[in-house]
Amino acid sequence: MGDRLDRKVAVITGAGSGIGRATAERFAAEGAVVAAWDVNADRAGLTAKTLADRGFRAAAFAVDVSSAASVRAAADEVIAQFGTVDVLVNNAGIFDYYTTLRDTTEEAWDRVLNVNLKGMFLVTQALLDALVDGGGAVVNTSSISGLVAGGGGVAYTASKHGVIGFTRQLALEYGKHGVRANAVLPGAVETEMTKPLLAQADLPILETVRSVPAGRHAQPDEIADTVLFLASDEARFVYGTSLVVDGGWTV
Ligand code: NAI
Repeated sequence: MGDRLDRKVAVITGAGSGIGRATAERFAAEGAVVAAWDVNADRAGLTAKTLADRGFRAAAFAVDVSSAASVRAAADEVIAQFGTVDVLVNNAGIFDYYTTLRDTTEEAWDRVLNVNLKGMFLVTQALLDALVDGGGAVVNTSSISGLVAGGGGVAYTASKHGVIGFTRQLALEYGKHGVRANAVLPGAVETEMTKPLLAQADLPILETVRSVPAGRHAQPDEIADTVLFLASDEARFVYGTSLVVDGGWTV
């Protein structure tokens, strides 16, 4: 428990599971008011309820980040309910398991890019005025797939490289207006997204996961701690950076 985000209003997308959920819990414990956004209304509701049961201020929003109309409605609702937005964590994302370029369908490409990249554009644009007014912080979830090629397939890798470019441009354009934008680049983290992979002991990628300097994959709270740092005042001079949290995978 602390006050590193005391009374800051934080929108976290994909807050119903994994890294987003851990971030919501970490932020609330540091005094933030959490708006938990997720396309899965039940999961968003569960995150908000868990926080509220612990005495924290939180609300759930059912929103598909890839839909402009859905994002606009949720943005309006957050402003109506909380007055402003101080922190935005663009975390919602989907993975396209081990698909080669030849096997990537146009539908899969669109689905991954629409959630992982277009979603970030839509949400950030919808909340931009509030973020500029309050001198906010934006943390975008990329991946080590934003640095190097890997198991996510072309659509995922392209989307996560795109997140880094989007973040840099945002930092350049709006840093002067008080908005600090940064990206976090996790390595392998145990979440709903990766559980099916981590459960298959014979997958070659797991050998890689075990051979990183840390010798293991991460738990979601280990990424949430980094997101907290980037969102907090401790990172007040950090703009447009890509912070790798991968147990040394890409050293
Ligand atoms: P997760 O699957 O546990 O959670 C993702 C959440 O996003 C889910 O609750 C899901 O309902 C929500 N979501 C999906 N599509 C959405 C949409 N259109 N609108 C709103 N919400 C939506 O996954 P995880 O692992 O927590 O992933 C979070 C982020 O971290 C993603 O951007 C992912 O690419 C990234 N990441 C994850 C890594 C890992 O090893 N788990 C590694 C590197 C990056």
